[in-house]
Amino acid sequence: MHRTATKSVAQTFLGMTFGIALAGAAFADPVDDKLVIETDNGPLELVTTAPAAAHLEGALTTLYSGWHYREDDTRDMERDDFDNPGMVFVDMGIDSWNKAQGVNGESCAGCHEGPESMAGLRAVTPRVDEKTGKLMTVENYVNGCVTERMGLEAWGMTSDKMKDMLALISMQSRGMPVNVATDGAAAPFYAQGKEIYYTRYGQLEMSCASCHEDNQGLFIRADHLSQGQINGFPTYRLKDAGILSAQQRFVGCVRDTRAETFKPNSDEFKALELYVASRGNGLSVEGVSVRH
Ligand code: HEC
Ligand code: HEC
Repeated sequence: MHRTATKSVAQTFLGMTFGIALAGAAFADPVDDKLVIETDNGPLELVTTAPAAAHLEGALTTLYSGWHYREDDTRDMERDDFDNPGMVFVDMGIDSWNKAQGVNGESCAGCHEGPESMAGLRAVTPRVDEKTGKLMTVENYVNGCVTERMGLEAWGMTSDKMKDMLALISMQSRGMPVNVATDGAAAPFYAQGKEIYYTRYGQLEMSCASCHEDNQGLFIRADHLSQGQINGFPTYRLKDAGILSAQQRFVGCVRDTRAETFKPNSDEFKALELYVASRGNGLSVEGVSVRH
C-alpha cells in the first residue's frame, strides 16, 4: 500500500515537471540486445544485464546497463572503438600517462609502467583503502600520486586532465565485472550512500529511487529512464560532446529535482558513488561508454 502511494506521488511530480502523461503509453522495456565491441584485440562481449546481487533484494531483480535504454545509433557507437568518440580522451590519457610532468620529471609510466598495471581498479572502486581507511575513488588515487609523488597541485576532480586519466584507467578494467565491496570497512559508506539514494531532495521531493528504481522504463520527454547504473562511467555524452564522470552525472540529476546539489568529491557523493556502483555489481565495466 505505502509503496504504491509513494510511487503515485513521485509520478505526479514527474508528470508536473516534465509535462507528460506517465500512465501506460510512456513505458518501454530496456531493449533486448547484446553488446559486442570491436576492439584492437578483436571482439569483446560485455555483460550488460545480470541478476541483481543479494543486497538489492526488494529493490531490483535484473540489472541493466544504461546502454539498453539508448537509441539504436547511440548503442551502435559503443560497438566499435573506432566509432566511440570517448576513445580520443583515452588517447589523451595515454599521452598524459607517459609525460614527465612531476616537479622532478616524474611520470605515471616511470613508476607504474604501462596503464595495464591499473587493470581491475575501476571494477572495485570506490573502495576503502586498506592502509589509510579512507574511501577512495579512482580520482582520489590519481590525486594522491599527483600531489604526494609528483609534487604538483591537485588536479580538479572534473578537470579534463583528470577525466582523460579516469577514462584511460577505466578502460583497463573493461569487460571485468563490477565488484564493489559493501561490507566490512565499506559498510558505513554503503549505508550513507544508500540513505542518500532514497532521500527525497528539492522542491520536487524526489530521490534517485523515485526515477531510477520506481520509474525506470518510463520516458521523460525523449529520455528513456534507465536504472541509473554507473558501470559505463566515465561516459562520452553526446549532448555535452565530452566525457562525464559518475559524480558529474549525479550533479545533473540532483539539479533536475531543483535541489541544491553536493559537490563532486564531497563525502556525500563519494558514498553515493559507492552505493550506486554496488547496485551494478555483476555488470561489466564498459570503460568509456556512449550515452546521449
Ligand atoms: C614516484 C612514483 C609514482 C608516480 C610518479 C605515480 N605513482 Fe601512482 N602510485 C605509486 C605508488 C607507490 C602507489 C601505491 C601502490 C600500492 O599501494 O600498492 C601508487 C598508487 C596509484 C594508484 C592506485 C592503484 C591501486 O591499485 O591501488 C593509482 C590509480 C595511481 N597510482 C595512478 C597514478 C597516476 C595516474 C600517475 C601519474 C599522474 C601516478 N600514479 C604517478 C607511485 C607513483
Ligand atoms: C527526475 C528524475 C531523476 C532523478 C530524481 C534522478 N535522475 Fe538520474 N537520470 C535521469 C534521466 C532522465 C537520465 C537520462 C536517462 C537515463 O539514463 O536514465 C538519468 C541518468 C542517470 C545516470 C546515467 C546512466 C547511464 O547509464 O548513462 C546516472 C548514473 C544517474 N542518472 C544517477 C542518478 C542518481 C545517483 C540520482 C540521485 C542523486 C538520480 N540519478 C536522480 C533522471 C533522474
